[in-house]
Amino acid sequence: MGLLDGKTGLVVGIANDRSYAWHIAKAIQENGGRCAFTHLPGEKNERRTRKAIEELGIKDPWMFPLDAGSDAELDKTFSNYAERFDAMHFLVHSIAFADREWLQIGKFVETPRAAYLSAIDISAYTLLAMAQRAKGLLARAGGGSIMSMSYYGAEKVVPGYNVMGVAKAALEATSRYLAAELGSQGTRVNVISGGYLRTLASSAVGGTDTMGDRSAEKSPLKRGVEGGDVGKTAVYLASDLSSGVTGETIYVDCGVNLIGV
Ligand SMILES: NC(=O)c1ccc[n+]([C@@H]2O[C@H](COP(=O)([O-])OP(=O)(O)OC[C@H]3O[C@@H](n4cnc5c(N)ncnc54)[C@H](O)[C@@H]3O)[C@@H](O)[C@H]2O)c1
Repeated sequence: MGLLDGKTGLVVGIANDRSYAWHIAKAIQENGGRCAFTHLPGEKNERRTRKAIEELGIKDPWMFPLDAGSDAELDKTFSNYAERFDAMHFLVHSIAFADREWLQIGKFVETPRAAYLSAIDISAYTLLAMAQRAKGLLARAGGGSIMSMSYYGAEKVVPGYNVMGVAKAALEATSRYLAAELGSQGTRVNVISGGYLRTLASSAVGGTDTMGDRSAEKSPLKRGVEGGDVGKTAVYLASDLSSGVTGETIYVDCGVNLIGV
């Protein structure tokens, strides 16, 4: 018996087998859950995401092209999901974007309006946009679980994280407001604040080359976070084990957030 037997949901954010979303999908599968997926539009993106999903042993996955910056594509994704599946027990939002030019140490003050707004749009507003389209499906599941990925740079200054820190603060607040409104339908909304993991997205942030080593040294657990650590927390959040937990930001960073200096 798996913790997630009989549960189906959508995982948004697998670029490759290093993505946090890949580790989350892996853990969900291992615990009996069934995942549907999106990929960024374009043949190359589709191939890359499909390859990573196949590594999970999933044959013929439900995959849909989605640029979350487009309302029309969001509409299509969720209506197609609804045609294929009766309900949504979990929704994993594991996407972020900011132009790397503005993720360099000392450049925050220069951030142009367009770069600031697009970071908030793709990295934070899309959580609301997905929840809006998923809420009926989640209610049909008897109340589901929405989760997204944040980072400590939402709260404290991490040099180079810059506008992404602002976007993550917006994401965390968005999650709490969604939790307050969707709770009456039984839907829970939480954030995982993950530790540093080397991925495509994290490599866009200036000064991260040594961040893994520094975080591991500083962490109470004396190691860097692994994708599987976040995967296990995602299983907890998708499962009934977290039935009373909503509106929370849960750190999965080996304790790095505890340390002041
Ligand atoms: N890697 C880390 O150190 C770290 C730490 C804490 C939180 N996070 C967060 O985890 C999440 C996943 O990032 P990751 O580190 O796994 O990197 P990743 O590059 O593997 O994943 C980022 C995903 O965002 C998707 N994306 C970007 N723009 C999109 C758009 N317009 N529409 C749809 N999808 C889009 C990409 O296709 C990719 O799949 C992000 O929210 C990131 O900020 C990462």
